[in-house]
Amino acid sequence: MRTIIAGNWKMNKTIAEAVDFANRLREKLAGKTGIPEVIVAPPFTALNPVSVVLRGSAVLVAAQNIHEADHGAFTGEVSALMAREAGCTYAIIGHSERRTLFGERDERINKKLSAALAAGLHPILCIGETLQEREENQTERVIERQLNEGLNNLGNDDIEKIIVAYEPVWAIGTGKTATPSQAQEVHRFIRGWLAKRCSGELSQQTVILYGGSVTPQNAGALMSQPDINGALIGGASLDVESFVRIIEYQFTQGV
Ligand code: PGA
Repeated sequence: MRTIIAGNWKMNKTIAEAVDFANRLREKLAGKTGIPEVIVAPPFTALNPVSVVLRGSAVLVAAQNIHEADHGAFTGEVSALMAREAGCTYAIIGHSERRTLFGERDERINKKLSAALAAGLHPILCIGETLQEREENQTERVIERQLNEGLNNLGNDDIEKIIVAYEPVWAIGTGKTATPSQAQEVHRFIRGWLAKRCSGELSQQTVILYGGSVTPQNAGALMSQPDINGALIGGASLDVESFVRIIEYQFTQGV
């Protein structure tokens, strides 16, 4: 099973800062074996410069968002093809900040997934419940709705290209991490949903990341859960040292 560590920089880093980070990351990971696959998601302005620095390395680049149309009068937006051309292999889709701050709903996220796939990008589909939904015992219902509607009309050929990221909204940027067993429970539910909707094989092969206040301190415990295949990291991915410590979590546990 693949393991992936992805850093979502959100609206952080100028081009100069992003290029410096990419150079240092490349240097630190050069020649390392036995580490997870690594992805960074810079802001749009830095996508191409970062891709150029990372070309030929094992680190791949993701867009943080894309528009669902190919082109047109959508001021301020970027298409999947444009992100691909800028050097992206992946696109984060449906991040909770896009859902809550920019009003993206499951139907729109479904269109963005199709657009990303059509452009040859691998989507990282983010799903997760709010604190209120968790407290009202709605977690599984919310996850199920986000999967049903987000993946609506997509066949197994498409779904097998998608990475799922479970990010409980209450854990994002709050310092409150889901406990390893809370996260595992939802990851197992997601895998069960994939087995029913797609196939047992596809369910077993799908990479399911955990996101929400992951740090070098808690990464190892989260990653040791059977259905957690890596992490999507915000805050702790902005510092190259801390990001690399998470990438090397299996070597630095307890340090
Ligand atoms: P965080 O963000 O690690 O800062 O909680 C995670 C995310 O939004 O992907």
